[in-house]
Amino acid sequence: MMVMNKISRRHFLAATGAITGAALLNPLSEVAAETVEAPNVVGKKLRLAIVGTGGRGTSMWGYDLMKSYPDYIEFVGLCDKNEGRVETGKKIIGASCPTYTDFEKMMKETKPDVLIVTTMDSTHHQFIIRGMELGADIITEKPMTTDEKKVQAILDAEKRTGKNCRVTFNYRYSPHRAKIWELLRAGEIGDITSVDFHWYLDTSHGADYFRRWHRLVECSGSLWVHKASHHFDLLNWWIDSDPETVYALGSLDHYGKNGIFRAENCRTCSHTSKCKFFFDITKKKNLMNLYVANEKYDGYLRDGCVFKNDVNIFDKMAATIRYKNGVQVAYSLTTYSPYEGYRIAFNGTKGRLEAWIQESRPTSDANFDELVLFKNFGKREYIQIPFGTSGHGGGDALLKDQIFLPGIKDPYKQCASVRDGALACLVGIAARNSIAAGQPVKIADLTSIQPQEKKLYQRIL
Ligand SMILES: NC(=O)c1ccc[n+]([C@@H]2O[C@H](COP(=O)([O-])OP(=O)(O)OC[C@H]3O[C@@H](n4cnc5c(N)ncnc54)[C@H](O)[C@@H]3O)[C@@H](O)[C@H]2O)c1
Repeated sequence: MMVMNKISRRHFLAATGAITGAALLNPLSEVAAETVEAPNVVGKKLRLAIVGTGGRGTSMWGYDLMKSYPDYIEFVGLCDKNEGRVETGKKIIGASCPTYTDFEKMMKETKPDVLIVTTMDSTHHQFIIRGMELGADIITEKPMTTDEKKVQAILDAEKRTGKNCRVTFNYRYSPHRAKIWELLRAGEIGDITSVDFHWYLDTSHGADYFRRWHRLVECSGSLWVHKASHHFDLLNWWIDSDPETVYALGSLDHYGKNGIFRAENCRTCSHTSKCKFFFDITKKKNLMNLYVANEKYDGYLRDGCVFKNDVNIFDKMAATIRYKNGVQVAYSLTTYSPYEGYRIAFNGTKGRLEAWIQESRPTSDANFDELVLFKNFGKREYIQIPFGTSGHGGGDALLKDQIFLPGIKDPYKQCASVRDGALACLVGIAARNSIAAGQPVKIADLTSIQPQEKKLYQRIL
């Protein structure tokens, strides 16, 4: 079959000189943003490896890729530190490649074109850096990493190796968020001056972060990084400028030590009849197979108690962020809300754009998201955008199509580079540092990245 995916196609064009030297040398140029027609040559399937065969690695980046892009990709290796989970993962994915618990061995034996990194957040940098050193381009899940030293190490490794790292900010791909970007870029509210952005996690999905490794700052970088980096990336992309200064507050008021009873995990708890957060994992076949059946290898409890004393992340957070182009943002994240979703408003010199998006909707709700566009001294307009049909508001499938199918352009500049991945984490890291110091933190003081008034764009992979 005649196939050539985006990565091999771009390599082909580089080799033949069909992209100008200037565009290649300056990947941040607009020329590099263009997608060129697939050349009529026989390509080969993209050889993929995954490190981290947990929930995300086996579903979004495993089974779904096998199902949707069999003509374009093949798995050559799967790796996880949990020897049982990597075998279960292989079955879920439906791959026939070898499995490994030794990452170096996998990379050296299988030599993948692309390494997909879906391990615990605090370990991403090891695999991104070593993966590039061993010759692979990288697709990494968000957050790219969890502290400023690791961010710098990734930036340095990308430069040193000449390899690419794409950060998969699927939130950018939801149709209503692309519409927001389009309206803002079209100048519908004039110049953006400030943004009010408030995100709510509910007592089901939101509480789940406090059951898992995410509850420990040393594993997730806290929800400032693990979760809010999604939101900060959206802000950076929507505002089209780089964050400059962050001042933040946070506290742990609800979960962890605040509970009136606790246990190690729900299966061993004597308080289940009175605990509203009781999570019966024995009723979830997939989770039993992937995690409970493999507890014996690493002791990881997927149904940990949300009130464990070791919870050391905040569950209530607020930040004021100033952007290089002068935009000011008021942001908050609450983790024990009755519904999951967000409210956002962009204030501009000519009007205001608002949305109230509920992600955990009652079944009777409408099948569209609504934006409201107000013009100063004018009328309001209601803009309805049909829901996307895949995970994360339709974003997951659109993101994967753009990476793996030939010929998909990037009109909304949704492709996220290592610099984008860095700046999204850095806002969360700055917020954490700001709370510790009780002072505003400058993004420019954290790594070699110097905030720009206009956001830089790089189309990769
Ligand atoms: N973009 C999104 O919407 C989205 C959604 C879910 C998860 N994620 C991201 O995907 C990543 C994985 O999340 P998950 O929910 O699948 O978690 P998970 O706990 O289910 O899976 C993580 C896997 O990594 C393995 N692992 C951890 N440290 C390792 C190491 N040092 N070496 C090898 N394997 C290691 C674990 O054993 C586990 O199997 C996280 O970074 C998370 O932020 C993103």
